[in-house]
Amino acid sequence: MTDKVLIFDTTLRDGEQSPGATMTHDEKLEIAELLDEMGVDIIEAGFPIASEGDFKAVSEIADRAKSATICGLARANYKDIDRCWEAVKHAKSPRIHTFIGTSPLHRAIPNLNQDEMAERIHDTVTHARNLCDNVQWSPMDATRTEEDYLCRVVEIAIKAGATTINIPDTVGYTAPVESADLIRMLIEKVPGADEVVFATHCHNDLGMATANSLAAVEGGARQIECTINGLGERAGNTALEEVVMALKVRGDIMPYTTGIDTRKIMNISRRVATVSGFPVQFNKAIVGKNAFAHESGIHQDGMLKNRETFEVMKPEDVGLTGTSLPLGKHSGRAALRAKLSELGFDLADNQLNDVFVRFKDLADRKKEVFDDDLMALVYQNDSGDDRLKLKSLKVVCGTDGPQTADMVMEIDGADVETSATGDGPVDATFNAVKALFQHAARLQLYQVSAVTEGTDAQATVSVRMEEDGRIATGQSADTDTVVASAKAYINALNRLIVRREQSAPGYDVKGVSYKDS
Ligand code: KIV
Ligand code: ZN
Repeated sequence: MTDKVLIFDTTLRDGEQSPGATMTHDEKLEIAELLDEMGVDIIEAGFPIASEGDFKAVSEIADRAKSATICGLARANYKDIDRCWEAVKHAKSPRIHTFIGTSPLHRAIPNLNQDEMAERIHDTVTHARNLCDNVQWSPMDATRTEEDYLCRVVEIAIKAGATTINIPDTVGYTAPVESADLIRMLIEKVPGADEVVFATHCHNDLGMATANSLAAVEGGARQIECTINGLGERAGNTALEEVVMALKVRGDIMPYTTGIDTRKIMNISRRVATVSGFPVQFNKAIVGKNAFAHESGIHQDGMLKNRETFEVMKPEDVGLTGTSLPLGKHSGRAALRAKLSELGFDLADNQLNDVFVRFKDLADRKKEVFDDDLMALVYQNDSGDDRLKLKSLKVVCGTDGPQTADMVMEIDGADVETSATGDGPVDATFNAVKALFQHAARLQLYQVSAVTEGTDAQATVSVRMEEDGRIATGQSADTDTVVASAKAYINALNRLIVRREQSAPGYDVKGVSYKDS
């Protein structure tokens, strides 16, 4: 019999922690729904004590989830754990995930010695288990924790009622051989290990996250923690699509199954890239634009004769449709609905109407509307709650500067207008936004890429801004690169405004008494 490996997705918690990857409430609900539909076993929906917004998102995801277990994160203190339970308790299947840093470096932060930390682990896991039957415990920085101490605290957590023991490689330091050995050693040595599920949670600082996760499974782990597109702090986490496809394609040497419907991978990958503002690198495994592209003559020739010469999986396996006919300005609503459904979008009538209006507008300007164009239209980031909206923009540019932007924006429901100059059309446009909505945010990144080929292609613009340590990203697409730039910039500002209202305490375990309730 083939063993099942549980897929624990933490895009909405660890992924959302990446600087700038903040998602709005509605975006989090949408991603959670996609994760649930694709068969993720456990969704880590957020860190409920971090902010009112996180709490609400986790609670609503818990209310709505159809089959996934919904998990919230809590530090090792009663207040965090109680708040986490409040958020997840309405789920059909709730889980509390509590953690503490156990390596010497992390023990020094709350200034606890080994015995004091052991006592805290016992008390907090017991507290969590008294609230919830499904408790996950993680010794953060496990891979740099002394082995004897790691065995001791894992045993304490199991005795206190943890049902899943997660072994994080928090700083992406471990190597595959060690990853497998560590899990194997824990399962062999720790009393009670056979009664719990061991999980692996790998970061990608040395580019080994996916390999480490798969090696941990070889060592006995039966839960992989991962994120869509490998989103996450620093170099990110294990990518869901990589581990799932590796297990599927290499079942000959890794006989494990997952419950993931792999045909949903491409859709969720693109959606996460859009809402997080983190575009997927072109050569990223499985989901990169080039993952199934064949450029060289030898490769193309081989592909035409037998695609298996240069492909280890089929594009359809991950939800890429084959080449299909583009839509044009004469295509109607029914054709649009059929095409969107083929691409994996089943939109409600009002959503379809919105996309149809944008589609007609695009088809008027562009001869052929390709699948990628349609996806960009579906993923337009306009939200009814945005405080800032672009109403109109007229730009004069060319060899003789200065370039000028005449802009009308709606700010909090009122129209305001200005004319600004700049060093180039994009600079003039951003100056106009700044004149209408004054702010101290610094532009950290401005990136343009074409959605499809041809000079009438839509441009996707990503913008990243920073204000007082808060980072927000914005994205937009339009056949006019300057309009896309203005909308992306305004989108980032709207997100920054949301970010100002959120306050995240981070992972400061110091100063929080764990007996507070
Ligand atoms: O990387 C890490 O150690 C974590 C823990 C909170 C599990 O994300
Ligand atoms: Zn992590």
